[in-house]
Amino acid sequence: MTNPLVFFAPSGKRGRFPEGTSVLEAARKLGVDLDSVCGGRGICGRCQVEVGDGKFPKLGIVSAPDHVTEWNAVEERYVSKRGPLAEGRRLGCQAKLCSDVVIDVPPDSQVHRQVVRKSAAIRDIAIEPVVALHYVEVREPDMHEPSSDFRRLQEALEQQWGLKDITAPLESLRLLQWSLRQGLWSVTVAIRHKREIVGIWPGLHEQGVGLAVDIGSTTIAAHLCDLASGEVLASSGVMNPQIRFGEDVMSRVSYVMMNPGGDVELTTAVREAIAELAVSVTKEVGLNSNDILEMTVVANPIMHHLFLGLDPTELGGAPFALTIDGAYQTRAAHLNLPLSSGAYVYVLPCIAGHVGADTAGVVLSEGPYLRPEVSLVVDVGTNAEIVLGNRERLLACSSPTGPAFEGGQISSGQRAAPGAIERVRIDPVTLEPRYKVIGSDLWSDEPGFDKAVIRTGVTGICGSGVIEAIAEMLLAGLITPDGVVDGAMATRSPRIEEDGRTFKYLIREGEPRIAITQNDVRAIQLGKAALYAGVRLLMDRYGVAAVDRITLAGAFGSHIDVKHAMILGLVPDCELDKVGSAGNAAGTGARIALLNASARTEIEDVVRRIEKVETAIEPSFQAHFVGAMAIPHKSDPFPHLEAALGVTFKRGSGDGEGGGGRERRRRRG
Ligand code: FES
Repeated sequence: MTNPLVFFAPSGKRGRFPEGTSVLEAARKLGVDLDSVCGGRGICGRCQVEVGDGKFPKLGIVSAPDHVTEWNAVEERYVSKRGPLAEGRRLGCQAKLCSDVVIDVPPDSQVHRQVVRKSAAIRDIAIEPVVALHYVEVREPDMHEPSSDFRRLQEALEQQWGLKDITAPLESLRLLQWSLRQGLWSVTVAIRHKREIVGIWPGLHEQGVGLAVDIGSTTIAAHLCDLASGEVLASSGVMNPQIRFGEDVMSRVSYVMMNPGGDVELTTAVREAIAELAVSVTKEVGLNSNDILEMTVVANPIMHHLFLGLDPTELGGAPFALTIDGAYQTRAAHLNLPLSSGAYVYVLPCIAGHVGADTAGVVLSEGPYLRPEVSLVVDVGTNAEIVLGNRERLLACSSPTGPAFEGGQISSGQRAAPGAIERVRIDPVTLEPRYKVIGSDLWSDEPGFDKAVIRTGVTGICGSGVIEAIAEMLLAGLITPDGVVDGAMATRSPRIEEDGRTFKYLIREGEPRIAITQNDVRAIQLGKAALYAGVRLLMDRYGVAAVDRITLAGAFGSHIDVKHAMILGLVPDCELDKVGSAGNAAGTGARIALLNASARTEIEDVVRRIEKVETAIEPSFQAHFVGAMAIPHKSDPFPHLEAALGVTFKRGSGDGEGGGGRERRRRRG
């Protein structure tokens, strides 16, 4: 009798095994990626395979469903409890080899499956579990052969799963005796890095979940993920409760400096908010927060320190020394988070005092270090975090853009929320504007607009709206390249109104009146010049005059229209179809680190290699800043943008003051 040949697709692994070997066993011996939680007992359904039917001449195999043993009672019991398997599928632990066969392992039965990401990205997320579930049957205690429950569990894990010297923290040990007896001597254990028990349940427990958390200064977002499939089961966000101690991160550092014990208050506030998020996202899918086996965190440096309970005072001033910059992991229990008994929290590494673990998340998600072309990745906020480079070399810096992009310091500015104007177009002939507000898909000049916004009203203008308004004003000739609202245009449009010694452009009549004032343009110019100067500094350091690709990350970045951002001169020239937004790339980075163990070592290694540039001490920063005050820029070329728009930009003086403005003020004075 010859041993049947089995060929596994898609891995291409093959081997001969004695008749009667289960498909799961053969897969294990060949190192084929076939999942199992129950260890071949026919109860978890993770080992499903398809048996090839037909001739496979290239493989020299004729395969048929009856080349494995018949559908058996265990499979019958499984489908009676769990519902039918998909057409042509078998449980790999029950189907045993009888003759040569081709076995297809579908993606949902692979441990290392790919999670397809919706956004265009360089790669999908590959699953490489940090924590895996293992069902085991443990010997009952015996008076004649005394041994502890944990020793017998260790033995069972070694015999049934080949896992040696497994350890357990006290938190998990406390649940052991109850779980074993409750589960009639069978338990499922969650094992981290094949070493340590981080969760334990009586009987079979099939779903392991983890939480990816993005702590922003304004909001905290959490994504509950299935650790085996990578699926996001629920997402939720809350306002960061630290806002009551200060709107921006620096005022929170001041709070800590001026109030003894203030750091503890801030730490408690953020941890409590995360604990509440953990409870609410798990509740949404019928689980408990103590089902969460692992958590990953991205955050800017100050949020990072406050979450870990580290004093952020040093980050409030030069030289901005971090307490720790490497990745850090600790038990959830140490952070008072109500996760599984032994769960860990893994915090991604920080890059520099101003460039945090959130940027590390963006880098992991966008993968500029994997590409040959030079990418620019910008996370726009009150502080822009900028990464430039490719697989050879990566540079990073941050630049203080100020609050204007989030609606701060803007006369009618507000955060992006329902009712805020987020899109603006200006007719270059009539100089009439039209706009869209968050919460409605209609433009303001479309029928039904007033009705569509009746609930939210039109309450102000958010950062993306201001950017579009100013870019459109430039295209319509309402502002000069120096950013001066041109009073001479008042002869052509009543929307240009005097505003003290300067002018403003009225976007909306009514209550509230919404206009772009000279000061608004200035605030945006200062912010965009800071960002652009940071980008140019990195380009100089890298030695490139142009970039091949631009990604705008962050909540704000994903709302900006890339063309308008470029017209404003927020980012350098680039082919427009190579400019895109990455949405919440930091949060995606946290998700990747949650699902893939190697991604953690990868980002730790990449971050160590990133060259940090400190804008504050770079002499050329100021010159770049002044040139970037003009819209789009005093001298830098924008050939791709000009070609796309069919225009040639006039150049401003870029003296940071608005030369035309001084002239006008002199004339008026
Ligand atoms: S391994 Fe669990 S059902 Fe086959």
